[in-house]
Amino acid sequence: MNMNRRSFLQSTSAALLATSSFRLVGADSPARRHRTALVGCGWWGGNILAAAMASGACEIVALCDVDRRFLKRTDERVRKETRDAPKLFGDYREMLAQVKPDICIVATPDHWHPLIMIAAVQAGAHVYVEKPISHTILEGRAMVRAARAASRVVQVGTHRRASPHNLSAREFVRSGKVGKIGMVRAFVNYGGGPETPKPHTQPPPELDWDLWCGPAPKRPFNGNPNNPWGSGIHPRGFRHFLDYANGTLGDWGIHWLDQILWITGEQAPTFVSSLGGRPVKGPAILNDKEQTSDAPDHQIAQYKFTDFDVSWEHRLFAGHNAEKGENVGCYFFGTEGTLHLGWQKGWTFYPTNDKQATIHEDAKLDEPDGQNIRTLWTNFLDCIRTGNKPISDIEDIHRSTNCALLGMLSLKLGRSIAWDAAKYECTGDVAANQLLRRAYRGDWKYPEI
Ligand SMILES: NC(=O)c1ccc[n+]([C@@H]2O[C@H](COP(=O)([O-])OP(=O)(O)OC[C@H]3O[C@@H](n4cnc5c(N)ncnc54)[C@H](O)[C@@H]3O)[C@@H](O)[C@H]2O)c1
Repeated sequence: MNMNRRSFLQSTSAALLATSSFRLVGADSPARRHRTALVGCGWWGGNILAAAMASGACEIVALCDVDRRFLKRTDERVRKETRDAPKLFGDYREMLAQVKPDICIVATPDHWHPLIMIAAVQAGAHVYVEKPISHTILEGRAMVRAARAASRVVQVGTHRRASPHNLSAREFVRSGKVGKIGMVRAFVNYGGGPETPKPHTQPPPELDWDLWCGPAPKRPFNGNPNNPWGSGIHPRGFRHFLDYANGTLGDWGIHWLDQILWITGEQAPTFVSSLGGRPVKGPAILNDKEQTSDAPDHQIAQYKFTDFDVSWEHRLFAGHNAEKGENVGCYFFGTEGTLHLGWQKGWTFYPTNDKQATIHEDAKLDEPDGQNIRTLWTNFLDCIRTGNKPISDIEDIHRSTNCALLGMLSLKLGRSIAWDAAKYECTGDVAANQLLRRAYRGDWKYPEI
């Protein structure tokens, strides 16, 4: 990794800090160094920003959001919690050109991750980008190539790789205590019911809706003004609109599919098959007056790996938890027992021999929102200093993202696919291969690297 003297000296002081406990520091701190920008000042961007501020090793020099309400709120927060005075932008291209940050956090909706991450590394920034890394598979490949060509560290926000109970579960499985694994089941279940179409509305005056949609199709605006978890698109609701994201499999499935790859060392499935639909939410509607979301309200995806099979299952109804355990996680089924790896409830091992006691480990999560971003952020800074591969490296999470995207691809096609990861091809399947990319809107150019 290229490093001049100034950045070397800066790295060294931050490295010392990175090992100490996290705390807020002021602008006069001698430790301050990474000029950090946040693109996407919504819910999760705020959580990552908190980790950056608390690290004591970052100066928040720029904030960027196409919605000035979120920009203002985040600016107020930064000014309150630090002595930084970030510059504010609505367009990431202007931000990168004017500010040239050392670090760029990308926490926009999924459809924007590829263009912003690629532009950021090409502008010289190390990037912390959110999951799923891309909306289509070939965008992800371009992101990995761009990161490598620019020799920048790109950490993805799959913070479960840094969570203590996930790490110990990994060790447990890898030590052979679960025995030979024949099958893994990953899932999330939430409550919910039928979806009522919402009338289109004018975007609020503070929002640049055209730029929010960017390279993706421009749907009529439909907001969540009072409840961020409402059925509108912005904020947060984009997850359930397939123009901008890939539904619950793209949102939650990526986390657990990533855990499966990370724990077992598998890299890619060879066969994927998925079913799903909207029997409870009702048909997807988009007409000149109103719309609903269009992601499936339940989905089952099956993956064939070398030594075992994986199933993913989600439903956004019947959230009564009749299954009893946690509503999210994965089960590793092995010859010595079953390990349930969850989120807030840690992990539990149920031995095959019922004379043996179950083994349990609690989760150790940071608040708000039960995550371990601070550890991931420390690792990110360490890797900027050392040039080591980060624990949620872009290439690894490209593979995990691909698992989720292949499940959606099979669902969209309505049939199974054979995947050749080395060739980036669905074997002998022209229609499937066309879905590895998509046309961008207007003048936006699909990344070809
Ligand atoms: N790692 C995790 O556990 C985790 C958890 C939640 C969300 N996420 C990810 O974080 C990302 C954001 O999700 P969220 O829930 O915070 O959504 P959100 O709607 O709360 O925030 C997204 C923000 O990005 C802004 N934005 C959109 N286009 C932009 C652009 N071109 N330039 C600048 N800003 C732009 C929006 O106006 C909004 O303020 C998603 O990719 C999501 O998958 C990750």
